[in-house]
Amino acid sequence: MARDPYWNHNVHYHRAVLAAVPRGCRTALDVGCGDGLLTRKLAGRAAEVTGVDRAPEMIRQARAARPPGNVTYLEADYLDGTPLGAHDFVSAVAVVHHARFEQAIAGLTRLVAPGGRLVIVGLARNHTPLDRVISGCGVPASRLYACLRGGKRGPAGMPVRDASLSWGEVRAAARRLLPGCRFRRRLLWRYVLVWDKPVSYDTRNGGP
Ligand SMILES: C[S@@+](CC[C@H](N)C(=O)[O-])C[C@H]1O[C@@H](n2cnc3c(N)ncnc32)[C@H](O)[C@@H]1O
Repeated sequence: MARDPYWNHNVHYHRAVLAAVPRGCRTALDVGCGDGLLTRKLAGRAAEVTGVDRAPEMIRQARAARPPGNVTYLEADYLDGTPLGAHDFVSAVAVVHHARFEQAIAGLTRLVAPGGRLVIVGLARNHTPLDRVISGCGVPASRLYACLRGGKRGPAGMPVRDASLSWGEVRAAARRLLPGCRFRRRLLWRYVLVWDKPVSYDTRNGGP
């Protein structure tokens, strides 16, 4: 795989996202794709890849990066009912905290085909002393990675915001809304959540 053009805490977890793409994946959707860096990596793992972002500048940058032929970009809001289809694989990196958690999960689960997989890389805020200790351990790790990767950078104009839910709140809500999900807090202030949508998933019977 080609070297990333830049490094930051979201890019750091792209490998975890890519490792979760099921074999034989036909369609992948990256929600809140930003400048499309992850979609260009997904292009080697899925037959068709779509990146969606509501920020026109992000979609402009994604298209300007000359993606492979199996990658398409859409300027759209995944929460406003725009039809975006149902996909074998859906990723959302640093996106969920831009909306209410329940609303974001409901929007994302709708985009996963029955039997498909959802991967969320998300942020949360510190609340307990243990949260602060774990987050503190990330500081030297982040500095070391930044040194090795030429600094910490991201695309110009990327919409960002702070997380409102604590680590404990996000974990509890994820377990309630996505039964069976694998939730792991990682060192660089992100969690990685993997959820497989049951083939018989029914939003009226316990789905979000
Ligand atoms: C912090 S950036 C992360 C971008 C990219 N996933 C990455 O890891 O570099 C969050 C992105 O999500 C997009 N976004 C937030 N809410 C959205 C929504 N409801 N629909 C589509 N895009 C959304 C923003 O425009 C922004 O580009």
